[in-house]
Amino acid sequence: MESYNITVVGGAGIVGREFLKVLDDRNVPVGRLRLLATARSAGKVVEFRGEKITVEETSPASFGRDDHVVFLSASGSASKEYAPIAQALGSFVIDDSSAYRMDPEVPLVIPEINAGDLEWHRGIISQPNCTTTPMVLALNPIHRVNPLRRVIVSTYQAVAGAGAAAVAGLAAESRAALEGRHEPSGTQKREIAFNAVPQIDVFAEDGYTKEEIKMANETRKILHAPEIAISATCVRVPVFFGHAMSVWAEFERPIGAAEARALIAAGEGVTVVDDPASEAYPTPMDVAGTDAVLVGRIRGDSSLPGAIALWTLTDSIRKGAATNVVQIIEEAARRGLIRR
Ligand SMILES: NC(=O)c1ccc[n+]([C@@H]2O[C@H](COP(=O)([O-])OP(=O)(O)OC[C@H]3O[C@@H](n4cnc5c(N)ncnc54)[C@H](OP(=O)(O)O)[C@@H]3O)[C@@H](O)[C@H]2O)c1
Repeated sequence: MESYNITVVGGAGIVGREFLKVLDDRNVPVGRLRLLATARSAGKVVEFRGEKITVEETSPASFGRDDHVVFLSASGSASKEYAPIAQALGSFVIDDSSAYRMDPEVPLVIPEINAGDLEWHRGIISQPNCTTTPMVLALNPIHRVNPLRRVIVSTYQAVAGAGAAAVAGLAAESRAALEGRHEPSGTQKREIAFNAVPQIDVFAEDGYTKEEIKMANETRKILHAPEIAISATCVRVPVFFGHAMSVWAEFERPIGAAEARALIAAGEGVTVVDDPASEAYPTPMDVAGTDAVLVGRIRGDSSLPGAIALWTLTDSIRKGAATNVVQIIEEAARRGLIRR
């Protein structure tokens, strides 16, 4: 693989920092690396492969023609402001926010599923929500041979999915609560320590939250299946790393647990950990800090024969964000889609 100049907006954030680790883990060749953030982090020094990189404040003038890859990992509004600038300069822009995910001119890519969509990019590629990714990776191996019709999913989402401040918030709230004090950090909609909060993002008029709507819309776009019916309930739980979810799915033809398990086990990017006899199933601690998407508790639904239920997880900042982005860069480089 050729080496590319990479600029990260949000380079001091939890995903931005993990992105550097993943580049290193996967030995991705990097030319000039720049880390951009707000004035809060400007001046901080981050080490990458023995080189000290000073974080700079982002402005519209931060971008240039020598930025081969621009990774936007800051916020939806920062993406809306900076993506068109970097795109106009010819950079290969990958956006981690929801700003462009449903834009029909922007591919939304999980490389194991729809790498081919990179071919029609116009400069901006979008990265799915960290909750969408494990569910779609778990269901796609069945969907490819037996189209997915309906999904009901409830999530158990770690605080890392809400950024570095939310991780610090859970730690601080937990310490206070163990000393008998309730001190909400304001990083979730309610105090999160020893609690479970059924609201991530804001509510839409239909009673679903935007996080739940994203899971539905993004799944349909990635799988190229606009007719799939999806109902999601997204819940924040006091777990630091590792998003988990309980998924119920119905396909065009009835399917049993054994067939579903075999298909998922043969799928790309997923690993089955599922043996009730030995009480084997995955938990958030098993995926934290890894790139794994683990699937367990695969069973036939007792209320509707032919449908299945399962449990799947991934670390939201690894395969849910940083690792998927690095895979997009590797795949686009292999296909010659990044301009130098
Ligand atoms: N955490 C996850 O699991 C996850 C998964 C998928 C997608 N995402 C998305 O990834 C993005 C980053 O999330 P995160 O979890 O890494 O958040 P984070 O830990 O809060 O970090 C955000 C980073 O973005 C920078 N930033 C914020 N607003 C900016 C602006 N207007 N201009 C320039 N830089 C700005 C911050 O700068 P300072 O350091 O100066 O504050 C910080 O470095 C978000 O769009 C999020 O939705 C996150």
